[in-house]
Amino acid sequence: MNFKLSEEHQMIQQSAREFAQTELLPGVIERDINSKFDPVLRKKMGEMGFMGMMVDPAYGGGGMDTLSYVLALEEISRVDASAGVIMSVNNSLVCYGLNAFGTHEQKEKYLKPLATGEKLGCFGLSEPEAGSDATSQKTIAEDKGDHYLINGTKNWITNGETSDIALVIAQTDKSKGHKGINVVIAEKSYPGFSTGVKEDKLGIRASDTTSLLFTDCKVPKENRIAEDGFGFKFAMKTLAGGRIGIAAQALGIAQGAYDAALKYSKERQTFGKPICEHQAIAFMLADMATQIKAARLLVYQSAWEKDGGMDYSESSAMAKLFASEVAMKVTTQAVQIHGGYGYVREYHVERMMRDAKITEIYEGTSEIQRIVISRSVLSK
Ligand code: CAA
Repeated sequence: MNFKLSEEHQMIQQSAREFAQTELLPGVIERDINSKFDPVLRKKMGEMGFMGMMVDPAYGGGGMDTLSYVLALEEISRVDASAGVIMSVNNSLVCYGLNAFGTHEQKEKYLKPLATGEKLGCFGLSEPEAGSDATSQKTIAEDKGDHYLINGTKNWITNGETSDIALVIAQTDKSKGHKGINVVIAEKSYPGFSTGVKEDKLGIRASDTTSLLFTDCKVPKENRIAEDGFGFKFAMKTLAGGRIGIAAQALGIAQGAYDAALKYSKERQTFGKPICEHQAIAFMLADMATQIKAARLLVYQSAWEKDGGMDYSESSAMAKLFASEVAMKVTTQAVQIHGGYGYVREYHVERMMRDAKITEIYEGTSEIQRIVISRSVLSK
C-alpha cells in the first residue's frame, strides 16, 4: 500500500494551495462580513480549472480523478470554505451528473460552460418539506408532451442566486413513488423561474443560499437527464460523490483551524513559556492532529474507491460523517486555544467554527449518513 501522493497529485495540491494563499486569503474576512463572493475570484477559479475538474476534457473539463479534486477542494477550503462549497456544488452535484448521464447535446450546451467556470450551476433537490426525506418531492414536473411544466419551491439551494443553470428534481408521476421522479435542466432565464430571498446564515456566508421558485415554468423535454423516472436515483448517485466533496471541504476547514492553532500556540506565552508547552494545549493539538489524519485517510480512500470503479456510497457517507464531526471538534478546540483572540474575526478560527457546522448538515445530515452506513453494514 502506497500512501505517497504522485507527482501530479502533489502539483495539483500545490497550485490550489498557492491560489488559496494569494487569491482567497486576502479578502476572506470581508467576504464573510459582506456575505458576498467576488465574481472575479470565481472567474479565476474557472481559469485555474477548479470548476469542472473531473469533467471529460472534450466538454471543457480537466479530466482528472476524484483524488485530484479532493486535494484541490481541501486546499481551497483550508482558507475559504465558502469558495469550497461554490466549487464543490458545481463540480460534484452539477457537472458530475451531466458528465455521467447527460446527452452529447446537453453536454455541449450546458456542461461546457459549467466546467470552464463561464457559468455556475446549482442542485435543486431539497424542499421546504423534503430535506432528509428526499423522496417526498412536492415540486411537480407535469408531462406536457414536448415539455415539462414545473411548479413548486426548492429550498436551501447553494449558488441559488448566482447560478445560471439549475438541475431540478421533481415529481412527474406520484403513483410511481420515487420511480416517478425526474431531473431536468432549467435555465435561470426561463419564464416562471425565479429565486427567493438570500438566507442570512451562520457560516459559509460568502456563498449564497436561496430558494428556487417555479410557477408554470416550461422546460423542454430534451432537458430531462436520462430516462423517465431516473431523477431520484440520479440524486442519490450524485450525492454519493457530493459527500466526498463535502468531506474534503470539512477536512480543509479542520486543517486550516489546526494550522492557526498550532502557530498561535507556539507564539503565545503564558506562565513564562509558549502555551504549546503546557500539557493541556499540547494534548489538544495531539487530538486535533490525530483526528485530521484519520479523516484524511477516510476521504482519500473514498476518492480512491470512486476512481477505481467500486461502490463508494458507504465510504463517502463514512468520510462525510467523520470529517464533518472532526471539523466541528477541531475548530472548537482551535477557538479554545486562541482564548479571547479566537472569538474575534481577525484570527479566522471563529469563522472556521461557524463554517464547519454546515458540513454536518448539508448533502445529508450526520443522521442521514448514519442511516446510509447502517443500512450498508447491515446488508452484508
Ligand atoms: N445510488 C443509487 N441508488 C440509490 C442510492 C445510491 N447511493 N441510494 C439509494 N438508492 C436507490 C435505492 O436503491 C432505491 O431504489 P429501488 O427502489 O429501485 O431499490 C431508491 O434509491 C430509494 O432508496 P431508499 O428506499 O433507500 O429511499 P429512502 O426514502 O429510504 O431514503 C435516504 C434514503 C438515504 C435517506 C435518502 O432519502 C437521502 O439520502 N436523504 C438525504 C438527502 C440529502 O442528502 N439531501 C441533501 C440536499 S443537496 C444539498 O445539500 C446540496 C447543497 O446545496 C450543498
